Amino acid sequence: VQPENNAIVIFGASGDLTHRKLIPAFYHLYANGLLPEDFAILGVSRTEYSDQDFREKLKISLTETEKVNEETLIKFCEHLYYQALNTSEVAEYALLKQRLGDLNDKHHTQGNTIYYLATPPSLYGVIPECLGAHGLNDETHGWKNLIVEKPFGYDLASANELDERIHAHFKEQQIYRIDHYLGKETVQNLLVFRFANGMFEPLWNRNFIEYVEITAAESLGVEERGGYYDGAGAVRDMFQNHLLQVLAMVGMESPAAINADSIRDEVVKVMQSFQPLSDKDLEKNLVLGQYTDSTVRGDHLPGYREEHGVADDSRTETYVGMKMFIQNWRWNGVPFYVRTGKRLPTRVTEVVIHFKKTPHPVFGTNAPENKLIIRIQPDEGILMSFGLKKPGAGFEAEEVSMDFHYGDLEETNMLTAYERLLLDCMKGDATLFARTDAVKACWKFVQPILEYKENPDHLFGYAAGTWGPKEADELLQGDERNWRFPCKNLTNTDY
Ligand code: BG6
Repeated sequence: VQPENNAIVIFGASGDLTHRKLIPAFYHLYANGLLPEDFAILGVSRTEYSDQDFREKLKISLTETEKVNEETLIKFCEHLYYQALNTSEVAEYALLKQRLGDLNDKHHTQGNTIYYLATPPSLYGVIPECLGAHGLNDETHGWKNLIVEKPFGYDLASANELDERIHAHFKEQQIYRIDHYLGKETVQNLLVFRFANGMFEPLWNRNFIEYVEITAAESLGVEERGGYYDGAGAVRDMFQNHLLQVLAMVGMESPAAINADSIRDEVVKVMQSFQPLSDKDLEKNLVLGQYTDSTVRGDHLPGYREEHGVADDSRTETYVGMKMFIQNWRWNGVPFYVRTGKRLPTRVTEVVIHFKKTPHPVFGTNAPENKLIIRIQPDEGILMSFGLKKPGAGFEAEEVSMDFHYGDLEETNMLTAYERLLLDCMKGDATLFARTDAVKACWKFVQPILEYKENPDHLFGYAAGTWGPKEADELLQGDERNWRFPCKNLTNTDY
């Protein structure tokens, strides 16, 4: 179904996100005929640009980063507009109202509007208030959806406060909290894989699963975002949102139906079952790290504190590894080892399900492991490993694997996460957006970690280009396990 005509207002239009993610996503949707018949994209920020300046700037950045078709690009640009606005000044929203009225007439948007908050988080509360003051949230003529980028809050209290401010002007059904991990094809596939296959469903619980590993490794450092990142750290930047969402997809019960409410009801239930972290858990089961400079294959990699925008004595964590539990009937006692970090040896996100061994090792103690590896990125796919007889004399077992790669499908026209999420928002489908109760459940779980990480003694160093602090390895070794080394089957290891 093609979405209805609409206008998209991007607050923070001169920012990085707009150039790197949003405009390319809109362009691809347009080039693939997935946008509505008519639409207008209105960029808003403080800088004075004309529509023409804005179009030219975006044209340049699109041509630099994407494969574009000149003719399509010209037509696409006819839908782009710009309005300079001081977003914290309520009076100035009269300009926005006027502009939206004009675009409505020109592009037949029927009053349908998406407001996209791609600004610094300090404006997430103010903009909805200003929109409300001018009736720009009113749905009498056309729907009004508000997309809020992460981070949604800084901790539990600020997330609650932000929610209240936004809810004063927008109903929950109008609010789309982005977690771009939910837009990834392979994260959504977790649902289909689990609930469309009778083969795995009976095994997906504490009786058959020994433990679960979730890794989101990045080889890059903080790049140009040191200023933001230094105030956030890996716990807020990746763990509280992306990783806990993926974990919820692995752990949730089957939804009653495939719709936003049913799916999100189950997601929130599992999040509310995360076993709260005691002081002892924090001491024993959590490792925070920060990368230090190193030389990898002759290249000097700067330490975190040398990065642009980062304080010289920063104690911000760029790595988090932890063991956690879900307290419910399905998962009681099954450890989930979760880690994420910057400047690790490669970029890979994967979930590894480790199944229990056979009750008695008749083929020797070196029994092969039964694992299911769900590769979220890159080389999206699924790999299953199990034991077979080693050819030749005797009865020795060896580990073999079967794998599926999305890339092998003939027709893989995978939408990027932002493409999928923007399209869903236009269609009014909030399934892949975080609901208020889920965001709060995650902050509630993470809150003790935020307090724990304030103590500078709780941070360990790791050399850039390695798999994190040795303390993180010890965390698993204490349970006679090791983190899976995810590079074995990757051809694109970065280091
Ligand atoms: C963002 C974080 O939300 O996710 C970044 O702010 C991180 O720090 C990024 O690099 C990772 O996303 P992806 O899609 O590249 O795994």
